[in-house]
Amino acid sequence: MSDASAEALEAQVLGAVEQRREVVNEAIEADLPVDEPERLYEAARYLLDAGGKRLRPTVLLLVAEALADDEDAAALDYRNFPDLDGEPIDVMAAAVSIEVIQSFTLIHDDIMDDDDLRRGVPSVHREYDTATAILAGDTLYSKAFEILIEADAPADRVVGAMDVLATTCTNICEGQAHDMAFEERANVLPEEYLEMIEHKTAVLYGAAATIPAILLGADDETVEQLYQYGIDVGRAFQIQDDVLDLTVPSEKLGKQRGSDLVEDKQTIITLHAREQGVDVDALVETDDVEAVTEAEISEAVAKLEAAGSIDYARDTAQELVARGKNRLAVLPDNEARDLLEGIADYLIERGY
Ligand code: IPE
Ligand code: IPE
Ligand code: MG
Ligand code: MG
Ligand code: MG
Repeated sequence: MSDASAEALEAQVLGAVEQRREVVNEAIEADLPVDEPERLYEAARYLLDAGGKRLRPTVLLLVAEALADDEDAAALDYRNFPDLDGEPIDVMAAAVSIEVIQSFTLIHDDIMDDDDLRRGVPSVHREYDTATAILAGDTLYSKAFEILIEADAPADRVVGAMDVLATTCTNICEGQAHDMAFEERANVLPEEYLEMIEHKTAVLYGAAATIPAILLGADDETVEQLYQYGIDVGRAFQIQDDVLDLTVPSEKLGKQRGSDLVEDKQTIITLHAREQGVDVDALVETDDVEAVTEAEISEAVAKLEAAGSIDYARDTAQELVARGKNRLAVLPDNEARDLLEGIADYLIERGY
C-alpha cells in the first residue's frame, strides 16, 4: 500500500472510531446512571468518563453493520438494529456491556500492576482507595451482564451472548493470573506468552466480534471466524501495547511508560531479548514505578532495540493482523467490513 493510501485509510478508520465513540459515550450515560451509594457509582463511572479509545465497542458495532449489509448501515438506529430476519435488537446495549467489562478489567489491572495513571488520570485505587476500586470493578463486572440482557434479543441468543461474555471474563482472570505468575519466571516460552495474552486481552476482542453476530442470528461458521478474527487482532493489539509501554511518553500514553520493566513483566520483547543474550532482569533496577527515570527506560529500550526485539514484536503483530483480516471473508463485502480490516491495521499502527 502506498503511503498516501495508508494515510487515507487511517483517516477513514479514525473517523469511524470517533463517530462510534461519541454514540457509545452517550449510551454509557444512559445505561449506567450514577445510583446510590453515589461514591460507589462515581468510582465505577470515573474511568469510563475519563476517556478511552472505545476500540472494542467500535468493533462490535462494525460487525453488526457488516452483517446488516445495508448501504446506509451506519445510519441505522443501533438501539433498534435489524437482525437477519429484520427484527429489532439493541446492539448498542451489547457495545456498552463490552466497554463496561473493559473498564472493570482496567481498574483491577491497575491494582495488580501497581499503576498510578490510567487514561491520563489517577487510577481508581489512587483517586479513591483500593477497597472502593475493587468494589467499583465488581459492580461494573455484574452490570455488564445486566446491560447485555437489555439487548432484547430472542432468549436463546441472549444466553449464547452471555455464555461468551462469561467465558471471556473467566479467561481474562486466567490470563491475568499467568501474567502475574510470569513476573517470577525467566523461562517463559513463546507459546505460554501467546496463550497468556490470548486470555488476558484477545478474548475481549473475540467477544466484541462474536456477540453482535450471535445477537443478530448469524450462522455458526460466521461466529467462529469472527471469534478467530478477534483473537488474532487482539493478540496483535496486546503486542503493540507491550511496544508502546516502552516507546511512548506517559503524557501521550495516559499511563506510566516503562511500567512493564519495573514490574518484571514478560512480554514478547523481553522473551526475544533473553534469547539474544540480553540481561533483561538488569535493564531496570527499581521496582517502584514512581522512582524509574526516563533516562533509565530509554537506555533499556536502546538495548532492546539493538537486540532486534522491538522489530521482532512488530513483525509478529503484523503476521497476526494479516491472519485476522483473512477471517473476515465470511462477512459480506461492504464498507463496514473494510473498516474492520482497517481497524486491524490501526491496532498495531496506533501511537497510543
Ligand atoms: C488497555 O486497553 C488494556 C489492554 C488490554 C492492553 P486500551 O489501550 O484499549 O485502553 P483504553 O480503553 O483505550 O483506555
Ligand atoms: C492488560 O494488560 C490486560 C487487562 C487489562 C486485562 P496490561 O497490564 O499490559 O494493560 P495496561 O498496559 O496496564 O493497559
Ligand atoms: Mg497494566
Ligand atoms: Mg496487567
Ligand atoms: Mg500494557
